Amino acid sequence: MDPYFSYRDSGLYCEDVAVARLAEEFGTPLYIYSKSAIVAQLDGLHAAFAELDPLVCYSVKANSNLSVLKVVAERGGAFDVVSGGELRRVQVAGGNPRKTVFAGVGKTDEEIAAALEAGVLMFNVESEAELDAIARVASAMGRVAPCAPRVNPDVDPKTHRYISTGKKESKFGMHIERSLALAEAAAKMPSVSLIGMHMHIGSQITTVEPYAGAASKGVEIIDAMRRLGHPVAWFNMGGGFGISYRGGEAKPVAEFARAIVPVVRESRCRLILEPGRVVVGNAGVLVSRVIFIKKSGEKTFVIQDAAMNDLIRPALYESFHRIWPVSPRAGATAPPDDFEAAIAGTTACDIVGPVCESGDFLAKDRALPSIERGDLLATFSAGAYGMVMASNYNTRPRAAEVLVDGSSAKLARRRETLDELLAPELVEL
Ligand code: LLP
Repeated sequence: MDPYFSYRDSGLYCEDVAVARLAEEFGTPLYIYSKSAIVAQLDGLHAAFAELDPLVCYSVKANSNLSVLKVVAERGGAFDVVSGGELRRVQVAGGNPRKTVFAGVGKTDEEIAAALEAGVLMFNVESEAELDAIARVASAMGRVAPCAPRVNPDVDPKTHRYISTGKKESKFGMHIERSLALAEAAAKMPSVSLIGMHMHIGSQITTVEPYAGAASKGVEIIDAMRRLGHPVAWFNMGGGFGISYRGGEAKPVAEFARAIVPVVRESRCRLILEPGRVVVGNAGVLVSRVIFIKKSGEKTFVIQDAAMNDLIRPALYESFHRIWPVSPRAGATAPPDDFEAAIAGTTACDIVGPVCESGDFLAKDRALPSIERGDLLATFSAGAYGMVMASNYNTRPRAAEVLVDGSSAKLARRRETLDELLAPELVEL
């Protein structure tokens, strides 16, 4: 267990706050985030890449709660956004648009104009058509748009197929030759300036080799861009650093740095990173309450109040999240370090939600110690791509979110009400 989420005599704590107390106060399902864990990850990234004077652009899509963004902004942090909505969040949270990169394959003219107005650091450009649109909007506004082509370095990041982006046959970025053709075209456009080069090869990457391979291709591309006259000053390596969902499977960021820094150094650029998951993933848990325990034949189903609409990752990617009672009953121990090993005194359960889909599960055949109706469960590593991907499927209000800082806990988002859910719908009754 890490220092931010630890079991004490009475059960699970987030920093110095009892998780059970928060569940009583704010109800379940409830996302709980540790501020210190987020800060420690950001500091770790800065330290590991210090030599390249990095701009660590926190990827807002991983967890866009305003309180989380404020923590990043207060540390002087930078941001990676993919929509006008995310840019608005950064601005509201006190983040600096001049330290914000704007990515995404489908930017609309309105979003481009809003980003130029806000003064974003640069646009990550995914296609020729997008470059044309940016040039046109910038020219109409009398501006020069700073841009970085997103190059697809054709490396295999060896991750889940839904979150792999660096291979040739991906919807993201452009092949090397195509990006150089785009750089040639951009050289003739007075309203754009290519000040950077961007790549992002995938997410939840647990080995360093794909980064090393991609980085050395990046250095060559930057040389070629400079020969075309572009003032390339930023090497954007994207995000993707993996985290340990089970325990021990991901490399520490220092190892990624050891592979990336010596290569990027050759480009004489400042480094941009766009980490999302590694900043917030292990800084959050999802707490739920057991509604029923149901036996069907040989199987035991633990039906609890967090569903696929709250955390879709297990259903969508068959991803693994550790799950353990918040207050293990007498005789049950703290969670094991190795969830794959046989655990004495446990029963294999399917941990499911109330949504009407067989895909609605948080875990299958998962070892749990004895639990009863009303007990609380903690689903770990839920800080990234949890609440941001939540929906109202089955007309379920989305969970509340709490940010813990030492011994204080603040509501970061209150639970939605049914009235709020229905409010936008127009019907004559
Ligand atoms: N930069 C770009 C251009 C991206 O597309 C992404 C993630 C990131 C940065 C941040 O990647 P990270 O450091 O978080 O790996 N919903 C999926 C993950 C989707 C990632 C999408 N792009 C999941 O739950 O695993």
